[in-house]
Amino acid sequence: MCGIVGYMGPKDPKDVIIHGLETLEYRGYDSAGISVLNQGKYERIRAQGKLVNLKEKLEGKSFPGGVGIGHTRWATHGAPVEKNAHPHKVYQVNIVHNGIIENNEELRVELKKQGSVFESDTDSELVAHLVHYANDGANNLYEAVIKIISKLEGAYSILVVSEEYPDQIVAFKNGPPLVIGVCDDAREVVIASDIQAIMPYTKDVVYLEDNEVAFLTGESVSYFDIEGKSLDKKVTTIKWDAEQAEKQGYEHFMLKEIYEQPRAVSAAIEPHVDALKNTVSLKNVGFGLDYDKLIEGDLTADEVAADIKSTLDTFKNLERVFIVGCGTSFYAGMVGEYYIENLAKVPVEIELASEFRYRNPIIPKDSLVIFITQSGETADTLAALRQVKSEGVKTLSICNVRRSSIDRESDGHLYMNAGVEVGVASTKAFVTSLAVLNLISISIAKAKGEISEEKESRLLMGLLEAPKHMDSVLAYSHFFSYAADTLKKFKGFLYMGRGVNYPIALEGALKMKELAYKHAEGYAAGEMKHGPLALIDEKMAIVMVAPKDALYDKTLSNLEESKARGGAIISIGTGEDEQLKKLSEHYLSLPEAHWTVNPLIEVIPLQLLSYYVADSLGNDVDRPRNLAKSVTVE
Ligand code: F6R
Repeated sequence: MCGIVGYMGPKDPKDVIIHGLETLEYRGYDSAGISVLNQGKYERIRAQGKLVNLKEKLEGKSFPGGVGIGHTRWATHGAPVEKNAHPHKVYQVNIVHNGIIENNEELRVELKKQGSVFESDTDSELVAHLVHYANDGANNLYEAVIKIISKLEGAYSILVVSEEYPDQIVAFKNGPPLVIGVCDDAREVVIASDIQAIMPYTKDVVYLEDNEVAFLTGESVSYFDIEGKSLDKKVTTIKWDAEQAEKQGYEHFMLKEIYEQPRAVSAAIEPHVDALKNTVSLKNVGFGLDYDKLIEGDLTADEVAADIKSTLDTFKNLERVFIVGCGTSFYAGMVGEYYIENLAKVPVEIELASEFRYRNPIIPKDSLVIFITQSGETADTLAALRQVKSEGVKTLSICNVRRSSIDRESDGHLYMNAGVEVGVASTKAFVTSLAVLNLISISIAKAKGEISEEKESRLLMGLLEAPKHMDSVLAYSHFFSYAADTLKKFKGFLYMGRGVNYPIALEGALKMKELAYKHAEGYAAGEMKHGPLALIDEKMAIVMVAPKDALYDKTLSNLEESKARGGAIISIGTGEDEQLKKLSEHYLSLPEAHWTVNPLIEVIPLQLLSYYVADSLGNDVDRPRNLAKSVTVE
């Protein structure tokens, strides 16, 4: 995690870096700091806690030196206190770092033997010590940094500046993302962990790949591999603008993003729908195609048609599907399991990336492994992808961030098209993943001859109606705020559902935990009497997801059992459900939809309940404590 920004150019670097860090705070907010050139020296200012504390310290200061680096931290090694905040400074050298140096202990011991004195508990500081020694005998900062790279193990990205070469910055990537925005013939350059920090200055960016170095001198930016070979890097023009990432009048990004979900779902579905024929054909998936060509949309009509066929052939021949993800993306995958097994009759295994990669899974060669990830950078998901690829099994990613590591490295590519998701708690990414999984399940079913044209068209029509249903739930958001008022006094929450609604219960509980810091568990409703019923008393709130589907009657019995034990019940059902109303303190009514579409609608009340409970408790909804949006460490 962590966000890093570097700047070189005519503006006050402090302004560009602070603005950049604001857009990157989703990556961590335990502390922040900058080092900026001031009369030939790097002045370092750091503050514990959120960026606002650093901004206070910087008030009234200006820095005409034109060069600086900055960092917002998500603590891994060392407590979230100022001494562990970046940049780390050793004599003339200042560095910011994102990721983990795995041989930290070993290197520290070695450096201490050479006389290094450490002022922090971080793994990052040792990079500054190493560059300090490497400066000896180097002709420029690039030569110094390249000397130390072979010593470092792990997945990490760094920016380095040094007073010995005041107008140089070196960036190195081996893991977490680094993007370089080059303006005005390289006289102005912004480097950051995410394009959002660069967008106000330029839309022309260069993506550093693993084991690549960028060397900035104020007049040029040169790129090298770790052997020192010069690289000719491609400039990509970004197509969306920074305004998409503003709050647009909503109190929080999360609320704005909840409201954006219906449009996001439409954007996820539309590219793959043949409106005239009312059929699904997954387009630009790109199995076996050149990634750059694919992502630039440079395919000819023949290539597009061949690609659609190649995806269908892949689906036709697969015998088993694995779905891998973490957190909310994992729960989306669980819903996908119900879709694919029910519609396409292909066995599905759903896997937590952090477990999958370490349990030596047996993946038959005729499998397809689907990776779901909003950020496309989640360390465990990325490692699992690499493991699967090394075994020669076909992979397909569902990502939101285009050109992210997982998007680039997978064989096939589908997109959530959710737009920027800033709130740390995932919302749009979840529903858009469900929309894409819906399309995948229809496509596999079609390729395998499991559904008729008529059924395909019915399923698709149902899915196309999802945004309308989602809008109708959002129109009652005041009701969720009212229900949240009752809920906030409860200490514990049990979320329940059956079948495809079970993962939604899990997702609802996750939202309550991460936003409201309340203990919440998601359960398959049928499991209650095998243990969890013992938890229920009047201090426990029960949130039951019970739409009118095939398992409705069974869910209702489970609800009766809970009611008899005294828990306060909030239920979510279809239309005017008198039975649910009778059993519940609050009943939240949803429009009637196909079972494959219900999950996209049901999750909205759960997101809103958690949002309102958290907000009324005064929690920072967009940046819940201890979390970060892009989890690039294990
Ligand atoms: C929860 C949440 C996390 C992420 C998880 C995976 O609201 O946001 O559980 O879903 O960290 O992240 P991605 O999807 O970026 O791989």
